[in-house]
Amino acid sequence: MKDPKGRIEPGYVMHAFVCGHSRPENSARPSCSAKGSLELLRNFKTLALEHGLTGIRIQKSGCLDFCEFGPSCVIYPQGEWFTISEESIPSLIEYLDGGLLPTKYSMNICNQTPLDED
Ligand code: FES
Repeated sequence: MKDPKGRIEPGYVMHAFVCGHSRPENSARPSCSAKGSLELLRNFKTLALEHGLTGIRIQKSGCLDFCEFGPSCVIYPQGEWFTISEESIPSLIEYLDGGLLPTKYSMNICNQTPLDED
């Protein structure tokens, strides 16, 4: 059997996961989907396609367990974590394309008030 996309081995150069988890309204913890993560994911994927990125996979994940600091995004193999926003997407695309780490959007769980406590 041949791969329908012509690939000769499995895997990606980089892999971005955006949490798409949802919870009922009165849950103890917030959810990324309630903060718009699914729309962000769509826009992230669209911009990556327009940018012509190859060897990169951007996809929805389940809960990444940093719910209070989301919408959560993690990029592997670097293991870099971000709080994704519309503003951050172009910088994340540049990073996926070999650009600098956009530390401005790095998830900071030590010195950041969780979004839901603002
Ligand atoms: S709901 Fe997104 S990290 Fe938990």
